[in-house]
Parts: sequence; structure tokens; C-alpha cells
Amino acid sequence: MPQTRVPRPRRYLTCPPRFFDVRYAINPWMREDTVVDTALAQAQWETLIHTYRDHGHRVETAEPVPGLPDMVFAANSALVLAGRVFGSRFHAPQRRPEQLAYTSWFKAAGFEVHPPEAVCEGEGDLVPAGRFVLAGTGFRTTRAAHQEVQEFFGVPVISLLLVDPYFYHLDTALFTLDDENGANGGTGEDGANIAYYPGAFSPGSREVLERLFPDALIATRDDAMAFGLNSVSDGRHVFVAPRATGLIAQLTERGYVPVPVDLSELHKAGGGIKCCTQEIR
Ligand code: ARG
Repeated sequence: MPQTRVPRPRRYLTCPPRFFDVRYAINPWMREDTVVDTALAQAQWETLIHTYRDHGHRVETAEPVPGLPDMVFAANSALVLAGRVFGSRFHAPQRRPEQLAYTSWFKAAGFEVHPPEAVCEGEGDLVPAGRFVLAGTGFRTTRAAHQEVQEFFGVPVISLLLVDPYFYHLDTALFTLDDENGANGGTGEDGANIAYYPGAFSPGSREVLERLFPDALIATRDDAMAFGLNSVSDGRHVFVAPRATGLIAQLTERGYVPVPVDLSELHKAGGGIKCCTQEIR
């Protein structure tokens, strides 16, 4: 009998894809000759927002800026823990102006923003999981930034090396199923649990994940390529890409409730559900 999972209401920051486009290629999913259907992207994104609200989550939106086609990927804007905001410094020059736009949103919402010194792409590479922040490096966020995050929050940061360019951000290869102290009886050291695709990580990093999360849900490459690991969990509902069918079956077996939301148009830029979602904790 799968256990009954308990959801926790969340606060999410998002940004409508009004100016979404693929105009430069900074990851293997992007092609400069791609034609984007902005209206479809907008409709798919609105479905995501309605779905979050229908499940009891609070969703806020930052105003999109013309000329910043990737600004829809709000997850890259910061890491926020207990109301403290660690901002971003983007790797690609094309995305750097987003820093200012998001910093303005946080300031207007009453937060102070700590700007990183090293390249750091927010929740794209920084994933809170129980008592740790899991942190990706290899393509975008630097190890120096991991150190800064640890100093700023005083939370242990576990550096993980990404090795497959299709999974250039940690949040394309791993997500947190349960992030708090045993609420849902996960078997990580403190009850937190994750799902991930091992092939995205170096051998040593894989071993670290096995040690910390012996009961993790292990996903296939097919599910990862379908953006299945770019999911958002509230502890019970998992907002997930519909083509990640193997993952959806595994989630159901474990007592989670998969909620499929299709963001196929945004996949053209290498982003999915989690990329569009910044959690304000
Ligand atoms: N085109 C964007 C980039 O390459 C996609 C960002 C996706 N965001 C994420 N959190 N993985 O930067």
C-alpha cells in the first residue's frame, strides 16, 4: 500500500513568456533557427499557473522584459531560504540583464538581495533537499558560488558535477520529492527524498547521491530527456512533463499524485516546469 503523502502550500515566483523566443543557443536544446509559437508558449504557461493555483499554491509574477527571451525561466533568478535571497550572476552575457529585472522584483516585494560574486544560476543549479542544498557545477554555476551559498545561508552545500551537456543545470537531472524533516517518511538521512537521472553526474557525484539518498527514485535517460526531472513537487502532487511516462508510473507507485503539465514549446529553449518556477521559502 503506498503511503498517503502530505502536500505543503508553496509560494512561487514566475514570469510570463510574453517575449519568449529562441534567439541564441546556450545549451544543446536551443537552435538559432528554431521557430517559436509564442502564443502556444503563453497558453501552456498559463495552464501551469492555473494548475498551481488549483492545488492551493500562491503564484506571483515578475514583469517580463522585451529582449530577454529566457526570462520566463524564473528558477534561475535566485535561491530563497527563510526569506533570505541569494541572487544570480548568469553565465551567458545574453541573460545577464535578467539579474537586474529580478532583483527589482524581489526588492519591490520587500526582500534584500545578496548578489553572488561568482557565476550562479539560482535554483537552476541549487536544489534544497532536507538539511542540504544540492549544488550543480560543470556547465553554469561555479564551485566558488557553492562556497558563497554555504557561507551565506550556513547550510551544508553538496557539490555535484554534471557531465552531460543536455543536463546543463542540476534541475534538469534532479528534483526534490520531499524537502522536509521526515514529513513524508523519506529515507534520506533526515526524511528528505529526491528523484534523479544518474547518467547526468560524474561517478563520484553519483556515489554521493547514493549515500545521501539511498531510497531515491532513479529515472531513465528517456524520462530525463522528456524533461521529467524538471518537475516540481509539493510533497504530494508532482507537476511533471506528460511524456515522462516511466517516471509518472514510478511516482504513482510511491504514493505521489502526478499532475501532468505540457510545456513542449518551452522545451525548445531547454526549459520545463521547474525552470519556470522559483520557490520563495
Ligand atoms: N535557455 C535557458 C538557458 O539555457 C534555459 C534555462 C532553464 N532553466 C533551468 N532552471 N534549468 O539558460
